[in-house]
This record gives sequence, structure tokens and C-alpha cells, in this order.
Amino acid sequence: MNGLTEETITHWHGMIVAEQNDGGPRYVIQPGGSYDYAFTINQRACLNWYHPHPHMLTGEQVNLGLAGAFIVRDSVEDALALPYGAHEVPLIIRDATLDSAGNLQYKPRTGGFDGQIPLVNGTRSPYLAVDQGLYRFRVLNGANARIFGLALSNGAPFTLIGNDGGLLETQTNLTRIDIAPAERLDLLLSFAGLSVGQSVTLRDQRAGWDLLEFRVVAPGTGSVPTLSLPTISKLSNPVTTRTFSFDGMSKINGKLYDMNRIDFQVPFGQTERWRFTTNGNAPHPVHVHGASFQVQSRTGGRGQVFPWERGWKDTVLLADFETVEVLIRFDAFRGKYLIHCHKLEHEDMGMMSNFEVV
Ligand code: C2O
Ligand code: CU
Ligand code: CU
Repeated sequence: MNGLTEETITHWHGMIVAEQNDGGPRYVIQPGGSYDYAFTINQRACLNWYHPHPHMLTGEQVNLGLAGAFIVRDSVEDALALPYGAHEVPLIIRDATLDSAGNLQYKPRTGGFDGQIPLVNGTRSPYLAVDQGLYRFRVLNGANARIFGLALSNGAPFTLIGNDGGLLETQTNLTRIDIAPAERLDLLLSFAGLSVGQSVTLRDQRAGWDLLEFRVVAPGTGSVPTLSLPTISKLSNPVTTRTFSFDGMSKINGKLYDMNRIDFQVPFGQTERWRFTTNGNAPHPVHVHGASFQVQSRTGGRGQVFPWERGWKDTVLLADFETVEVLIRFDAFRGKYLIHCHKLEHEDMGMMSNFEVV
């Protein structure tokens, strides 16, 4: 039900569903209207999220709070006996600006919304009471435009086990992870090295912000296990290469989004190489609907594929002067989907393109 005074539609980011359940901008509903979705969830376990997708209004609606995350589980993940219950914690990280009455205030800029404070799970200056055991953190960057450089205040590593498309093939210890809007992380962290009464803080090293304080309040046990993570079948032998140039702050391949224009067709079941490039005005977190992809390479700029970009992804960060290549195959549904910049202000200005899987 649309209870807003403007049009909206809900998209399920990371869900592999048919076009009519994907909540794209062509499906907006009017104030007072409603939309029925019905779909089967048939994909790997992962952390996904939902947010509105009405053309030119996405940034404002997300920024004012109309978004959330949800967890998809499967038997592969269950078999790993990962921490659960109070030891599995979703962390939705975003930035915000408050007006003098303390309400969320959306002030878009063409370069992307730039909030004055961080929020974790909608909370300002949050802390989490933990025991000395092992935790699993399901992290989503739910910000409109901000990239977070996650690190712990004591320099200890996180153990990365998954990202947008679920579990990775290998676990990696990392002391810093950069997460762009719409990206997800699955992290293990043990507080066994801290005493009861001590604390450690999750920080954003880019803005110099404290994000979340972990206060150890109870004894516990559990170190980070060595997991046998699932193998991921690799896409290979692309039959076509398509290039997407993210131009300025509002165009893909020189074109502004047009709801009624289908820019290209992709044969169902065909593996393709998609090359994302930009000459400036980045970062552009590139997101594709309808299929996940596998990142192959990054040249220029940061010049490498990071451990959190392995496995299956639906969003990849393109920084200035970078070229990122991915392999992708649409093998679940035919229909019309989107590729766009997930900096929501760029998306709203038109950095988005329709394509059709045929
Ligand atoms: Cu997170 Cu097209 O969206
Ligand atoms: Cu999406
Ligand atoms: Cu962009």
C-alpha cells in the first residue's frame, strides 16, 4: 500500500525475480494505490535489502528512511553452523542530516548526498553489549552516496566470509574494508581477546567517524573457526562484450534515462562480459538488476579486485578513471531490467538504463 503523498514502488535489491516482481520505476504506484508481488525465492543465502525505486524520487525516499534489509537462508549456510540468534547482528550503516527539530533532512547535491552524522540501524551514537564470544555481522551500506572505510579501533581484523551474493569461497582476515552504497558484507568477529568491561569501536576511516561501540559485558567463548566454504561455479567464455561508460553525473553511454526506451537486449542464458568505465565524477557504485555477476578485473585507479569483490556481486564500485570488467549471465527470467549507478542522486538524475533479457 502506498501511504505516501507521492508515487513509489518497492524494489528488492539482490533478489532474482521476474520483472513484474522487481519493483522497477516503470511499476510505480500512485498515492493510495497498492501493488501485489508474488514470487518464489530461489537463490543463494545472502543479505538483501528493499528500497523504493520511483524515478527521480529514490534518493529522497531512501534518505527519509524507507529501506530495510532481510536475510535469505539456505541449507548450505545452515551446515556451517555460523553464529545465530543474538550472535548474528545486522548492521545497516548510513549517513544522515538532521534539522533543528531532529528530523531527517534530505539535502541532495549532484555529487551525492553528504550527511553530517552516521547512523547504524537508525541509531545515533550506538553501542552494542556483547559477550566474549564469536559474532556474525551482516553489514549493508544503506547510504545514498557515502562509501565507508570500515576498521576496528584496536586494529584487529574482521574475518570476511561473504558479500552481496552470499558466502565466498575463502575466508579472509582484513583490517580495513571499503563498502560502497548497496554493497553487503558478511563478517565474523570474536571478542575473546577483550576483557569484560573493555570495548572496541567500529570506525569509518574515511570520514573519521565512530560508527558503533562494542561493549564487552559478559564472559563467553568462541574464536573464529576455519570454515569449509562452498565452491562457486565460475562464469567463463563470454560471447559478447558490452561497454557502459558512466558519464558525468547523469548519463550512461551518453544517454539520460528514459523510462520508455529499452537500450539493449541480452540473450537469455548467454554469458557476457560487461565493462564499466568512467572518466570522472565517480565514485559510481554500478548495480544490475535480474542477475548477479562475477568481477574479473579492475584497471586504472585502484588497479585490483579486492577480496570483498570475489564471488557473486550485484553492485561494484567504479572509482575515477577505473575500468571494471564483470561476467554476467541472465538465466532465471526473461524481461526488462535495469543497470544504474547506485549513488542515488546520480540515479535520480538519470544515470540508469533499461535492458531486456530475451
Ligand atoms: Cu538498489 Cu535499482 O537498486
Ligand atoms: Cu537492485
Ligand atoms: Cu554515479
